[in-house]
Amino acid sequence: MRTPFYYYDVPLLKRTLASLKSCLSPGYHVHYAVKANFNPQILGIIAASSLGADCVSGGEIEAALRAGFKPSDIFFAGVGKSDEEMLLGLQKGIGRFNVESMEEMRILSGHAESLGLKAPVSIRVNPNIGAHTHANITTGLSENKFGIGYDRLEEAIRLTLGMEGIDFRGLHFHIGSQILDMQDFVALCNRINSLQRQLLSAGVHVHDINVGGGLGINYEHPNHLQTADFNAYFDTFRTHLQLLPAQELHFELGRSVVAPCGSLISKVLYVKEGSTRRFAIIDGSMTELIRPALYQAYHRVENISSDLPELKYDVVGPVCESSDVFARSVMLDECRRGDYIAIRSAGAYGESMASGYNCRPLPPAYLDYGTEK
Ligand code: LLP
Repeated sequence: MRTPFYYYDVPLLKRTLASLKSCLSPGYHVHYAVKANFNPQILGIIAASSLGADCVSGGEIEAALRAGFKPSDIFFAGVGKSDEEMLLGLQKGIGRFNVESMEEMRILSGHAESLGLKAPVSIRVNPNIGAHTHANITTGLSENKFGIGYDRLEEAIRLTLGMEGIDFRGLHFHIGSQILDMQDFVALCNRINSLQRQLLSAGVHVHDINVGGGLGINYEHPNHLQTADFNAYFDTFRTHLQLLPAQELHFELGRSVVAPCGSLISKVLYVKEGSTRRFAIIDGSMTELIRPALYQAYHRVENISSDLPELKYDVVGPVCESSDVFARSVMLDECRRGDYIAIRSAGAYGESMASGYNCRPLPPAYLDYGTEK
């Protein structure tokens, strides 16, 4: 079989979706973050489970529409929306624009007016909250490029309410990704509570709150802990966030929905005894899964075709970069040329971040429906 390829466990994806949905309260809406995985078949399964979509480009809006997401359930975020992307969103009737600056707000208002529409808008607030995660995937600090500082929020809302082409609906937040410490979300809730009090005393009522995504998964134990702790996550908001009567709460989860169900399957090309280390050189690389190279991320690596006693390996790819390493000093069942290697929890930000560096072709993806097709 040609390798590398992505393998998706569809029953696990469906169990994950069922577990997520069983933890929701009335008034809670989840928009799947399409950036985590936009494989059309995976998107189709998620759309069929009646989640909404969180998109960050015109391309993602189109992919979401093709997959069957309802336009009104599609939210559009991002610091740099182009004029074409705004017009696309307006013409398709998407449910929300998460706006990140006042200049963007004015441009969007102008486009909406030119079409005789009002753009439904949330203002993305930069809550200035750190998250215990990798620096490259924390987003809620004032030094990050995202959102409008909460000290400028009242003024931003006042200006927004005066714009002809804008229907101001809500506030949007997102503090980072792969967050496992629920205290980070508690800090977000506390910040939102105090902001809401401040806004209410200024006479501003917000229709809904969007707390973004960020719930992490357990990369160490993909076999024992197959789904994210949705219960703890949603309970944190139930306990700590003071919603106003009839206020809706929106979430944008990506990783926790799709990461567990995917693996990158690759084959051992060579085993090389270096002077100090033993290398398993595989045919998969950072072009199919860039997370270890980009964020020093851990993914469990398994030899799924050997029963021999374990040996210690550095598992590396063929790309001409020293960072093209999946794991250092890991114990694997003894590897021989041709053995299949699974790199686990690769369903999020694997296929969607693949590149053609070194003229490597984009690999195929296979969905395993198990017995429940
Ligand atoms: N909402 C917003 C505004 C976001 O920026 C993101 C992710 C999400 C939702 C979804 O976050 P999630 O639930 O997946 O954590 N490539 C990195 C992750 C980048 C996340 C970017 N924003 C990685 O592989 O770890």
